[in-house]
Amino acid sequence: MKIVVIQGPNLNMLGIREQHVYGPMKLEQIHAQMKEFATQNNIEIEFFQSNLEGEIVDKLQECYGDAQGIILNAAAYTHTSIAIRDAISAISIPTIEVHISNIHRREEFRKTNMIAPVCTSSIVGFGPFGYHLAMMGMLQIMQEIQAVQASQEAQQQAPQA
Ligand code: DQA
Repeated sequence: MKIVVIQGPNLNMLGIREQHVYGPMKLEQIHAQMKEFATQNNIEIEFFQSNLEGEIVDKLQECYGDAQGIILNAAAYTHTSIAIRDAISAISIPTIEVHISNIHRREEFRKTNMIAPVCTSSIVGFGPFGYHLAMMGMLQIMQEIQAVQASQEAQQQAPQA
């Protein structure tokens, strides 16, 4: 199983930007923790960060046929990007949206969310721990999908009455 973790604009500035909102942890540290969890659970993991909307769309499209799950923090594009929303819809891969801060408790403009309706679930306001929760959630989703596939295969192989 392969998970791709996609981080949007300014998340490369974690540890520097607005520490009172996002905390002191750097993106590399978050990724190192995710990598550890992935290794322990036999998951292949790839990380991608971009400040550009089109590059995020390209990366989502590349996931088609390559990844089984996506963990996405679209950052500011969450509130504006129909292009990212459409890319998520197009590829039909389970996608968990993460926000470090609780976007519902902040400025009004952060309450608009273009991405959430096309994601499998959203995790907000847990700080960097949200990424760990997303990994656990993705593992659960993958196990459920595999169980459904196994039961469908068993039904196909069973002799017809
Ligand atoms: C964020 C919340 C967004 O509103 C903001 O633009 C970000 C980070 C978060 O993780 O809390 O850049 O996605």
